[in-house]
Amino acid sequence: MAHWWQTGIVYQIYPRSFQDSNDDGIGDLPGIIERLDYLQWLGVDAIWVSPFYPSPMKDFGYDVADYTDVDPIFGTLSDAEQLIAEAHARNIKIIFDLVVNHTSDQHPWFLESRSSRDNPKRDWYMWADPKPDGSPPNNWLGHFDGESAWEWDEATEQYYYHTFLAEQPELNWRNPEMRAAMLDNMRFWFDRGVDGFRLDVSYRAMKDAELRDNPPNPDWEPGMDPFRRLLEPHTRNIPEIHTFNKWLREVADEYEERVLIGEISLPFEELVKHYGENNDELHLPFNFDLIHREWTAEEIRSSIADYEAALPEGAWPNYVLGNHDQHRFGSRTAPEQIRIGMMLLLTLRGTPTVYYGEEIGMLDGDIPLNRVQDPWEKNVPGLGLGRDPERTPMQWDASPQAGFTSEGVEAWLPIASGYTTINVNNERSEPASILMMTRSLIRLRRDHAALHLGGQTLLDAPEGVLAYERQVEGERFVVALNFRGEYTAFAAGDEGNIVFSTYMDLPPADSPLRPHEGRLLRI
Ligand code: GLC
Ligand code: CA
Repeated sequence: MAHWWQTGIVYQIYPRSFQDSNDDGIGDLPGIIERLDYLQWLGVDAIWVSPFYPSPMKDFGYDVADYTDVDPIFGTLSDAEQLIAEAHARNIKIIFDLVVNHTSDQHPWFLESRSSRDNPKRDWYMWADPKPDGSPPNNWLGHFDGESAWEWDEATEQYYYHTFLAEQPELNWRNPEMRAAMLDNMRFWFDRGVDGFRLDVSYRAMKDAELRDNPPNPDWEPGMDPFRRLLEPHTRNIPEIHTFNKWLREVADEYEERVLIGEISLPFEELVKHYGENNDELHLPFNFDLIHREWTAEEIRSSIADYEAALPEGAWPNYVLGNHDQHRFGSRTAPEQIRIGMMLLLTLRGTPTVYYGEEIGMLDGDIPLNRVQDPWEKNVPGLGLGRDPERTPMQWDASPQAGFTSEGVEAWLPIASGYTTINVNNERSEPASILMMTRSLIRLRRDHAALHLGGQTLLDAPEGVLAYERQVEGERFVVALNFRGEYTAFAAGDEGNIVFSTYMDLPPADSPLRPHEGRLLRI
Protein backbone atom coordinates (compact mmCIF):
# COMPACT_ATOMS: atom_id res chain seq x y z
CA MET A 1 0.00 0.00 0.00
CA ALA A 2 1.30 3.42 -0.92
CA HIS A 3 1.60 6.12 1.73
CA TRP A 4 -0.36 9.37 1.48
CA TRP A 5 2.87 11.32 1.15
CA GLN A 6 3.74 9.31 -1.95
CA THR A 7 0.50 9.65 -3.87
CA GLY A 8 -0.41 13.14 -2.64
CA ILE A 9 0.47 16.71 -3.48
CA VAL A 10 1.96 19.00 -0.86
CA TYR A 11 1.13 22.73 -0.86
CA GLN A 12 3.44 25.12 0.98
CA ILE A 13 1.93 28.05 2.86
CA TYR A 14 4.09 30.95 4.05
CA PRO A 15 1.69 32.07 6.77
CA ARG A 16 2.67 35.77 6.81
CA SER A 17 1.58 36.01 3.19
CA PHE A 18 -1.44 33.78 2.73
CA GLN A 19 -4.46 35.45 4.32
CA ASP A 20 -4.79 38.20 6.91
CA SER A 21 -7.89 37.73 9.08
CA ASN A 22 -7.57 40.70 11.46
CA ASP A 23 -6.37 43.61 9.33
CA ASP A 24 -2.85 44.00 10.67
CA GLY A 25 -1.38 43.37 7.21
CA ILE A 26 0.14 40.02 8.20
CA GLY A 27 -1.28 36.63 7.33
CA ASP A 28 -2.28 34.35 10.20
CA LEU A 29 -3.64 30.92 11.14
CA PRO A 30 -7.33 31.92 11.15
CA GLY A 31 -6.65 33.26 7.65
CA ILE A 32 -5.39 29.86 6.53
CA ILE A 33 -8.48 28.22 8.02
CA GLU A 34 -10.69 30.61 6.00
CA ARG A 35 -8.97 29.45 2.82
CA LEU A 36 -9.05 25.71 3.40
CA ASP A 37 -12.13 25.33 1.21
CA TYR A 38 -10.14 26.80 -1.64
CA LEU A 39 -7.32 24.32 -1.08
CA GLN A 40 -9.81 21.49 -1.00
CA TRP A 41 -11.33 22.74 -4.25
CA LEU A 42 -7.84 22.90 -5.76
CA GLY A 43 -7.30 19.29 -4.73
CA VAL A 44 -4.14 19.35 -2.62
CA ASP A 45 -3.60 16.47 -0.21
CA ALA A 46 -1.38 18.12 2.39
CA ILE A 47 -0.30 21.57 3.46
CA TRP A 48 3.08 22.47 4.90
CA VAL A 49 2.93 25.64 6.98
CA SER A 50 6.17 27.60 7.46
CA PRO A 51 6.86 28.56 11.12
CA PHE A 52 4.20 30.39 13.14
CA TYR A 53 5.75 29.83 16.59
CA PRO A 54 6.51 32.65 19.03
CA SER A 55 9.44 34.51 17.54
CA PRO A 56 11.19 37.88 17.56
CA MET A 57 10.80 37.58 13.73
CA LYS A 58 14.41 38.44 12.97
CA ASP A 59 14.20 35.77 10.27
CA PHE A 60 10.41 35.87 10.06
CA GLY A 61 9.70 32.90 12.28
CA TYR A 62 12.76 30.80 11.48
CA ASP A 63 14.05 32.13 14.82
CA VAL A 64 11.85 30.19 17.22
CA ALA A 65 11.46 31.24 20.85
CA ASP A 66 8.99 28.48 21.80
CA TYR A 67 8.34 25.33 19.77
CA THR A 68 5.03 24.52 21.41
CA ASP A 69 3.00 27.67 21.03
CA VAL A 70 1.84 30.18 18.43
CA ASP A 71 3.06 33.76 18.01
CA PRO A 72 0.27 36.26 18.80
CA ILE A 73 0.79 37.71 15.30
CA PHE A 74 -0.38 34.39 13.87
CA GLY A 75 -3.03 33.48 16.47
CA THR A 76 -3.22 31.11 19.42
CA LEU A 77 -2.45 27.51 20.19
CA SER A 78 -6.13 26.78 19.86
CA ASP A 79 -6.06 28.27 16.34
CA ALA A 80 -3.28 25.80 15.50
CA GLU A 81 -5.38 22.96 16.90
CA GLN A 82 -8.36 24.17 14.95
CA LEU A 83 -6.26 24.35 11.79
CA ILE A 84 -5.27 20.72 12.24
CA ALA A 85 -8.89 19.69 12.84
CA GLU A 86 -10.32 21.73 9.96
CA ALA A 87 -7.69 20.47 7.54
CA HIS A 88 -8.36 16.88 8.59
CA ALA A 89 -12.09 17.42 8.22
CA ARG A 90 -11.39 18.19 4.55
CA ASN A 91 -9.08 15.21 4.15
CA ILE A 92 -6.02 17.43 4.03
CA LYS A 93 -2.93 16.35 5.96
CA ILE A 94 -0.97 18.94 7.84
CA ILE A 95 2.80 19.35 8.01
CA PHE A 96 4.49 21.83 10.32
CA ASP A 97 7.97 23.30 10.04
CA LEU A 98 10.54 22.24 12.62
CA VAL A 99 13.58 24.46 12.96
CA VAL A 100 16.07 21.90 14.25
CA ASN A 101 19.39 23.63 13.64
CA HIS A 102 19.00 26.74 15.77
CA THR A 103 16.59 28.65 18.01
CA SER A 104 16.02 32.32 18.59
CA ASP A 105 18.47 33.99 20.98
CA GLN A 106 15.30 34.78 22.96
CA HIS A 107 14.41 31.10 23.46
CA PRO A 108 14.50 30.40 27.24
CA TRP A 109 17.04 27.64 26.54
CA PHE A 110 19.49 30.14 25.09
CA LEU A 111 18.82 32.76 27.74
CA GLU A 112 19.83 30.15 30.31
CA SER A 113 22.69 28.87 28.24
CA ARG A 114 24.29 32.27 27.91
CA SER A 115 23.68 33.22 31.55
CA SER A 116 26.86 31.53 32.81
CA ARG A 117 29.46 28.99 31.82
CA ASP A 118 28.27 26.50 34.39
CA ASN A 119 24.58 26.75 33.62
CA PRO A 120 23.20 23.23 32.99
CA LYS A 121 22.04 24.35 29.53
CA ARG A 122 25.42 25.85 28.57
CA ASP A 123 26.18 22.80 26.44
CA TRP A 124 22.77 22.92 24.65
CA TYR A 125 24.35 25.40 22.22
CA MET A 126 27.75 25.61 20.53
CA TRP A 127 30.06 27.62 22.75
CA ALA A 128 33.84 27.79 22.22
CA ASP A 129 36.87 29.63 23.51
CA PRO A 130 38.60 32.24 21.40
CA LYS A 131 41.98 31.59 19.85
CA PRO A 132 44.90 32.86 21.97
CA ASP A 133 44.77 36.18 20.10
CA GLY A 134 41.09 36.59 20.96
CA SER A 135 39.81 35.85 17.46
CA PRO A 136 37.00 33.37 16.70
CA PRO A 137 37.63 29.63 17.19
CA ASN A 138 37.79 28.93 13.44
CA ASN A 139 37.01 30.38 10.00
CA TRP A 140 33.37 29.29 9.67
CA LEU A 141 31.19 31.85 7.91
CA GLY A 142 27.65 33.13 8.44
CA HIS A 143 25.11 32.47 5.68
CA PHE A 144 23.44 35.86 5.86
CA ASP A 145 26.53 38.10 5.73
CA GLY A 146 29.60 36.04 4.84
CA GLU A 147 31.35 37.21 8.00
CA SER A 148 32.47 35.12 10.96
CA ALA A 149 29.70 32.84 12.18
CA TRP A 150 30.96 33.24 15.74
CA GLU A 151 29.46 35.85 18.05
CA TRP A 152 31.43 37.04 21.07
CA ASP A 153 29.61 36.96 24.39
CA GLU A 154 31.19 39.62 26.57
CA ALA A 155 29.70 38.41 29.85
CA THR A 156 30.93 34.82 29.70
CA GLU A 157 33.95 35.41 27.44
CA GLN A 158 33.23 32.74 24.90
CA TYR A 159 31.97 32.70 21.33
CA TYR A 160 28.75 31.03 20.21
CA TYR A 161 28.20 29.71 16.70
CA HIS A 162 25.34 30.71 14.37
CA THR A 163 25.07 29.65 10.71
CA PHE A 164 22.37 32.27 10.16
CA LEU A 165 21.80 35.50 12.13
CA ALA A 166 23.52 36.15 15.46
CA GLU A 167 19.95 36.01 16.79
CA GLN A 168 19.77 32.35 15.65
CA PRO A 169 22.27 30.49 17.87
CA GLU A 170 23.14 26.96 16.83
CA LEU A 171 21.86 24.02 18.89
CA ASN A 172 24.25 21.30 20.01
CA TRP A 173 22.64 17.98 19.03
CA ARG A 174 25.44 16.07 20.75
CA ASN A 175 23.92 17.08 24.07
CA PRO A 176 21.45 14.34 25.14
CA GLU A 177 19.23 16.59 27.27
CA MET A 178 18.75 19.13 24.50
CA ARG A 179 18.07 16.30 22.10
CA ALA A 180 15.43 14.78 24.36
CA ALA A 181 13.76 18.17 24.79
CA MET A 182 13.63 18.82 21.05
CA LEU A 183 12.31 15.35 20.28
CA ASP A 184 9.58 16.01 22.85
CA ASN A 185 8.66 19.13 20.89
CA MET A 186 8.03 16.85 17.92
CA ARG A 187 5.83 14.60 20.06
CA PHE A 188 3.91 17.65 21.28
CA TRP A 189 2.63 18.24 17.73
CA PHE A 190 2.36 14.60 16.71
CA ASP A 191 0.14 14.10 19.76
CA ARG A 192 -2.06 16.92 18.42
CA GLY A 193 -2.47 15.15 15.10
CA VAL A 194 0.20 16.80 12.95
CA ASP A 195 1.03 14.50 10.05
CA GLY A 196 4.66 15.39 9.62
CA PHE A 197 7.43 17.92 9.68
CA ARG A 198 9.49 19.79 7.17
CA LEU A 199 12.90 19.97 8.81
CA ASP A 200 14.63 23.29 8.36
CA VAL A 201 18.23 22.91 7.04
CA SER A 202 18.32 19.46 8.60
CA TYR A 203 21.62 18.56 6.91
CA ARG A 204 23.36 21.27 8.96
CA ALA A 205 22.26 20.00 12.36
CA MET A 206 25.62 18.35 13.17
CA LYS A 207 28.96 20.16 12.99
CA ASP A 208 32.52 18.88 13.13
CA ALA A 209 33.29 17.99 16.75
CA GLU A 210 36.86 19.32 16.43
CA LEU A 211 35.71 22.60 14.85
CA ARG A 212 38.19 22.26 11.98
CA ASP A 213 38.48 25.13 9.48
CA ASN A 214 36.52 24.93 6.23
CA PRO A 215 38.68 25.06 3.06
CA PRO A 216 38.42 27.84 0.45
CA ASN A 217 36.05 27.41 -2.50
CA PRO A 218 38.18 27.53 -5.68
CA ASP A 219 35.14 28.56 -7.76
CA TRP A 220 34.30 31.64 -5.73
CA GLU A 221 34.80 35.08 -7.25
CA PRO A 222 34.22 38.57 -5.86
CA GLY A 223 30.65 39.66 -6.53
CA MET A 224 29.31 36.22 -5.62
CA ASP A 225 27.51 35.44 -2.36
CA PRO A 226 30.30 36.08 0.20
CA PHE A 227 29.21 33.05 2.25
CA ARG A 228 30.26 30.79 -0.64
CA ARG A 229 33.95 31.76 -0.20
CA LEU A 230 34.45 28.53 1.71
CA LEU A 231 33.43 24.96 1.00
CA GLU A 232 31.61 23.34 3.90
CA PRO A 233 32.87 19.86 4.68
CA HIS A 234 32.72 20.57 8.41
CA THR A 235 29.50 22.52 8.83
CA ARG A 236 26.97 20.49 6.86
CA ASN A 237 26.32 16.91 5.85
CA ILE A 238 29.03 15.49 8.11
CA PRO A 239 28.90 11.71 8.61
CA GLU A 240 27.06 11.94 11.97
CA ILE A 241 24.12 13.65 10.27
CA HIS A 242 22.73 10.20 9.55
CA THR A 243 22.60 9.48 13.27
CA PHE A 244 20.66 12.71 13.68
CA ASN A 245 18.20 11.69 10.95
CA LYS A 246 17.59 8.41 12.74
CA TRP A 247 16.86 10.11 16.07
CA LEU A 248 14.05 12.04 14.40
CA ARG A 249 12.82 9.08 12.40
CA GLU A 250 12.48 6.98 15.52
CA VAL A 251 10.14 9.56 16.98
CA ALA A 252 8.09 9.77 13.77
CA ASP A 253 7.84 5.98 13.80
CA GLU A 254 6.26 6.04 17.24
CA TYR A 255 3.17 7.30 15.35
CA GLU A 256 1.20 6.07 12.32
CA GLU A 257 1.80 7.38 8.81
CA ARG A 258 3.86 10.44 9.70
CA VAL A 259 6.31 12.02 7.24
CA LEU A 260 9.68 13.74 7.60
CA ILE A 261 10.75 16.06 4.79
CA GLY A 262 14.29 17.38 4.93
CA GLU A 263 15.46 20.72 3.58
CA ILE A 264 18.73 19.55 2.03
CA SER A 265 20.79 21.18 -0.73
CA LEU A 266 23.33 18.63 -1.87
CA PRO A 267 24.36 16.83 -5.04
CA PHE A 268 22.21 13.76 -5.73
CA GLU A 269 24.75 11.21 -4.55
CA GLU A 270 24.85 12.84 -1.10
CA LEU A 271 21.18 13.86 -1.05
CA VAL A 272 19.88 10.33 -1.48
CA LYS A 273 21.90 9.08 1.48
CA HIS A 274 19.39 10.98 3.61
CA TYR A 275 16.77 8.31 2.87
CA GLY A 276 18.97 6.03 4.97
CA GLU A 277 20.63 2.79 4.03
CA ASN A 278 17.46 0.89 4.90
CA ASN A 279 15.06 3.73 4.23
CA ASP A 280 15.28 4.43 7.94
CA GLU A 281 16.06 8.16 7.84
CA LEU A 282 14.00 10.88 6.11
CA HIS A 283 11.00 9.94 3.97
CA LEU A 284 11.51 12.81 1.54
CA PRO A 285 14.80 14.64 1.35
CA PHE A 286 13.75 17.62 -0.77
CA ASN A 287 15.01 17.51 -4.36
CA PHE A 288 15.71 21.10 -5.42
CA ASP A 289 17.50 20.26 -8.64
CA LEU A 290 14.71 21.54 -10.91
CA ILE A 291 15.34 24.95 -9.33
CA HIS A 292 19.05 24.93 -9.92
CA ARG A 293 19.30 23.45 -13.42
CA GLU A 294 19.13 25.55 -16.52
CA TRP A 295 15.54 25.45 -17.81
CA THR A 296 15.98 23.57 -21.08
CA ALA A 297 14.44 20.26 -22.12
CA GLU A 298 17.89 18.68 -22.25
CA GLU A 299 19.05 19.86 -18.81
CA ILE A 300 15.77 18.94 -17.14
CA ARG A 301 15.87 15.53 -18.80
CA SER A 302 19.30 14.87 -17.39
CA SER A 303 18.22 16.13 -13.98
CA ILE A 304 15.44 13.54 -13.93
CA ALA A 305 17.68 10.79 -15.27
CA ASP A 306 20.50 11.52 -12.81
CA TYR A 307 18.09 11.67 -9.89
CA GLU A 308 16.30 8.43 -10.78
CA ALA A 309 19.66 6.72 -11.26
CA ALA A 310 20.86 7.88 -7.85
CA LEU A 311 17.70 6.89 -5.93
CA PRO A 312 18.24 3.82 -3.78
CA GLU A 313 15.87 0.86 -3.81
CA GLY A 314 12.60 1.75 -2.11
CA ALA A 315 13.31 5.49 -1.94
CA TRP A 316 10.43 7.67 -3.14
CA PRO A 317 11.27 10.68 -5.35
CA ASN A 318 10.01 14.24 -4.96
CA TYR A 319 10.19 17.51 -6.87
CA VAL A 320 10.03 21.23 -6.09
CA LEU A 321 9.85 24.26 -8.41
CA GLY A 322 9.83 27.01 -5.82
CA ASN A 323 9.64 27.96 -2.16
CA HIS A 324 10.00 30.95 0.16
CA ASP A 325 13.77 31.06 -0.43
CA GLN A 326 13.78 31.04 -4.26
CA HIS A 327 12.65 33.54 -6.84
CA ARG A 328 9.36 32.48 -8.34
CA PHE A 329 9.52 30.00 -11.18
CA GLY A 330 8.04 32.26 -13.85
CA SER A 331 10.44 35.06 -12.87
CA ARG A 332 13.51 32.80 -12.84
CA THR A 333 12.61 31.36 -16.24
CA ALA A 334 9.94 33.24 -18.20
CA PRO A 335 6.17 33.58 -17.71
CA GLU A 336 5.49 31.49 -20.84
CA GLN A 337 7.26 28.55 -19.15
CA ILE A 338 4.84 28.47 -16.21
CA ARG A 339 2.36 26.04 -17.74
CA ILE A 340 4.84 23.38 -18.74
CA GLY A 341 6.67 23.90 -15.43
CA MET A 342 3.49 23.08 -13.53
CA MET A 343 2.71 20.18 -15.83
CA LEU A 344 6.20 18.76 -15.29
CA LEU A 345 5.88 19.08 -11.51
CA LEU A 346 2.48 17.38 -11.48
CA THR A 347 3.22 14.53 -13.89
CA LEU A 348 6.67 13.37 -12.77
CA ARG A 349 7.10 10.24 -10.70
CA GLY A 350 7.36 11.49 -7.14
CA THR A 351 5.70 13.79 -4.64
CA PRO A 352 5.29 17.37 -5.88
CA THR A 353 5.41 20.35 -3.54
CA VAL A 354 3.56 23.40 -4.87
CA TYR A 355 4.49 26.81 -3.40
CA TYR A 356 1.48 29.03 -2.67
CA GLY A 357 0.60 31.17 -5.69
CA GLU A 358 2.36 28.88 -8.16
CA GLU A 359 -1.05 27.51 -9.08
CA ILE A 360 -2.12 30.91 -10.39
CA GLY A 361 1.23 31.74 -11.98
CA MET A 362 2.34 34.35 -9.44
CA LEU A 363 5.54 36.20 -10.29
CA ASP A 364 8.13 37.90 -8.07
CA GLY A 365 7.00 41.20 -6.59
CA ASP A 366 9.00 44.41 -6.92
CA ILE A 367 10.26 45.46 -3.51
CA PRO A 368 11.13 49.17 -3.20
CA LEU A 369 14.21 49.78 -1.02
CA ASN A 370 12.13 51.21 1.81
CA ARG A 371 9.99 48.06 1.94
CA VAL A 372 12.84 45.51 2.19
CA GLN A 373 12.18 43.06 5.02
CA ASP A 374 14.54 40.13 4.52
CA PRO A 375 17.65 40.36 6.74
CA TRP A 376 19.72 38.70 4.03
CA GLU A 377 18.94 41.50 1.56
CA LYS A 378 19.65 44.07 4.27
CA ASN A 379 23.06 42.54 5.06
CA VAL A 380 24.15 41.75 1.51
CA PRO A 381 22.20 44.20 -0.66
CA GLY A 382 21.98 44.27 -4.42
CA LEU A 383 23.11 40.73 -5.28
CA GLY A 384 19.55 39.49 -5.69
CA LEU A 385 19.86 37.24 -2.63
CA GLY A 386 16.88 38.78 -0.84
CA ARG A 387 13.76 36.63 -0.56
CA ASP A 388 11.03 39.26 -0.27
CA PRO A 389 10.07 39.11 -3.99
CA GLU A 390 8.82 35.52 -3.68
CA ARG A 391 7.06 36.17 -0.37
CA THR A 392 4.54 38.81 -1.48
CA PRO A 393 0.90 38.29 -0.45
CA MET A 394 -1.26 35.66 -2.08
CA GLN A 395 -3.38 37.18 -4.84
CA TRP A 396 -7.00 36.28 -4.20
CA ASP A 397 -8.85 38.95 -6.18
CA ALA A 398 -8.49 42.27 -8.00
CA SER A 399 -9.37 44.51 -5.02
CA PRO A 400 -6.68 46.97 -3.83
CA GLN A 401 -5.01 44.54 -1.37
CA ALA A 402 -5.69 41.52 -3.60
CA GLY A 403 -8.10 40.09 -1.01
CA PHE A 404 -5.12 39.34 1.25
CA THR A 405 -6.07 42.07 3.70
CA SER A 406 -8.61 44.89 3.79
CA GLU A 407 -8.49 47.95 1.63
CA GLY A 408 -6.58 50.73 3.42
CA VAL A 409 -4.36 48.29 5.34
CA GLU A 410 -0.71 48.13 4.29
CA ALA A 411 0.32 44.53 3.71
CA TRP A 412 3.70 43.57 5.27
CA LEU A 413 5.12 43.26 1.73
CA PRO A 414 3.66 45.06 -1.29
CA ILE A 415 1.21 43.19 -3.51
CA ALA A 416 2.98 42.16 -6.72
CA SER A 417 2.07 44.04 -9.86
CA GLY A 418 -0.08 42.07 -12.25
CA TYR A 419 -2.38 40.92 -9.44
CA THR A 420 -5.47 42.41 -11.07
CA THR A 421 -5.34 39.58 -13.62
CA ILE A 422 -3.16 37.01 -11.82
CA ASN A 423 -5.55 36.17 -8.98
CA VAL A 424 -7.74 33.32 -7.83
CA ASN A 425 -11.09 34.98 -8.46
CA ASN A 426 -10.29 36.00 -11.97
CA GLU A 427 -8.71 32.70 -12.91
CA ARG A 428 -11.56 30.67 -11.48
CA SER A 429 -13.84 32.32 -14.01
CA GLU A 430 -11.44 31.73 -16.95
CA PRO A 431 -11.67 28.11 -18.13
CA ALA A 432 -8.22 28.22 -19.75
CA SER A 433 -6.40 29.98 -16.86
CA ILE A 434 -3.26 28.64 -15.17
CA LEU A 435 -5.35 27.96 -12.08
CA MET A 436 -7.91 25.87 -13.95
CA MET A 437 -5.09 24.10 -15.76
CA THR A 438 -3.36 23.30 -12.46
CA ARG A 439 -6.59 22.01 -11.00
CA SER A 440 -7.19 19.78 -14.03
CA LEU A 441 -3.68 18.36 -13.75
CA ILE A 442 -4.20 17.67 -10.05
CA ARG A 443 -7.44 15.86 -10.91
CA LEU A 444 -5.80 13.79 -13.61
CA ARG A 445 -2.98 12.88 -11.28
CA ARG A 446 -5.44 11.83 -8.60
CA ASP A 447 -7.64 9.84 -10.97
CA HIS A 448 -4.86 7.80 -12.56
CA ALA A 449 -2.56 5.43 -10.74
CA ALA A 450 -0.13 5.66 -13.65
CA LEU A 451 0.39 9.31 -12.74
CA HIS A 452 0.50 9.16 -8.94
CA LEU A 453 2.19 5.82 -8.50
CA GLY A 454 3.31 4.47 -11.83
CA GLY A 455 6.71 3.86 -13.33
CA GLN A 456 8.43 6.37 -15.54
CA THR A 457 10.51 6.07 -18.71
CA LEU A 458 12.23 8.98 -20.42
CA LEU A 459 11.56 8.99 -24.18
CA ASP A 460 13.54 10.21 -27.15
CA ALA A 461 12.22 13.56 -28.34
CA PRO A 462 13.16 16.34 -30.76
CA GLU A 463 15.39 19.14 -29.53
CA GLY A 464 13.58 21.38 -27.07
CA VAL A 465 11.02 18.75 -26.16
CA LEU A 466 10.99 16.69 -22.97
CA ALA A 467 8.94 13.49 -23.16
CA TYR A 468 8.35 10.63 -20.78
CA GLU A 469 5.97 7.78 -20.24
CA ARG A 470 4.11 6.96 -17.04
CA GLN A 471 2.68 3.53 -16.66
CA VAL A 472 1.01 0.95 -14.45
CA GLU A 473 -0.46 -2.32 -15.53
CA GLY A 474 -3.23 -1.54 -18.04
CA GLU A 475 -2.64 2.20 -18.15
CA ARG A 476 -0.06 4.23 -20.09
CA PHE A 477 0.39 7.95 -20.58
CA VAL A 478 2.94 9.99 -22.48
CA VAL A 479 3.85 13.49 -21.35
CA ALA A 480 5.36 15.83 -23.95
CA LEU A 481 6.56 19.30 -22.99
CA ASN A 482 7.70 21.85 -25.55
CA PHE A 483 10.21 24.17 -23.89
CA ARG A 484 10.60 26.35 -26.96
CA GLY A 485 8.45 28.99 -28.60
CA GLU A 486 8.24 27.11 -31.92
CA TYR A 487 5.93 24.50 -33.37
CA THR A 488 7.64 21.12 -33.05
CA ALA A 489 6.46 17.83 -34.47
CA PHE A 490 6.33 15.08 -31.88
CA ALA A 491 5.14 11.51 -32.35
CA ALA A 492 4.56 9.40 -29.27
CA GLY A 493 5.31 6.21 -31.19
CA ASP A 494 2.02 4.43 -30.67
CA GLU A 495 -1.39 5.77 -31.44
CA GLY A 496 -2.42 8.01 -28.61
CA ASN A 497 -5.35 10.19 -27.67
CA ILE A 498 -4.61 13.62 -26.36
CA VAL A 499 -6.35 13.84 -23.01
CA PHE A 500 -4.89 17.14 -21.86
CA SER A 501 -3.11 20.21 -23.21
CA THR A 502 -1.71 23.17 -21.29
CA TYR A 503 -3.66 25.26 -23.81
CA MET A 504 -6.78 23.78 -22.20
CA ASP A 505 -8.17 22.43 -25.46
CA LEU A 506 -7.82 19.10 -27.24
CA PRO A 507 -5.89 19.48 -30.49
CA PRO A 508 -5.78 16.72 -33.14
CA ALA A 509 -3.48 13.87 -32.12
CA ASP A 510 -1.10 14.25 -35.05
CA SER A 511 -0.74 18.05 -34.84
CA PRO A 512 2.66 19.48 -33.89
CA LEU A 513 3.24 20.72 -30.35
CA ARG A 514 2.46 24.42 -30.17
CA PRO A 515 4.88 26.95 -28.61
CA HIS A 516 5.44 26.09 -24.92
CA GLU A 517 2.71 23.48 -25.05
CA GLY A 518 2.51 20.49 -22.75
CA ARG A 519 0.36 17.51 -23.68
CA LEU A 520 -0.76 14.35 -22.05
CA LEU A 521 -1.48 11.43 -24.36
CA ARG A 522 -3.22 8.27 -23.35
CA ILE A 523 -1.75 5.30 -25.16
C1 GLC B 1 15.98 27.66 5.83
C2 GLC B 1 14.72 28.43 5.61
C3 GLC B 1 15.06 29.87 5.44
C4 GLC B 1 15.70 30.35 6.72
C5 GLC B 1 16.91 29.50 7.07
C6 GLC B 1 17.34 29.73 8.49
O1 GLC B 1 16.82 27.71 4.73
O2 GLC B 1 14.02 27.90 4.51
O3 GLC B 1 13.94 30.64 5.13
O4 GLC B 1 16.09 31.68 6.59
O5 GLC B 1 16.62 28.13 6.98
O6 GLC B 1 16.40 29.20 9.37
CA1 CA C 1 -3.17 39.16 10.71
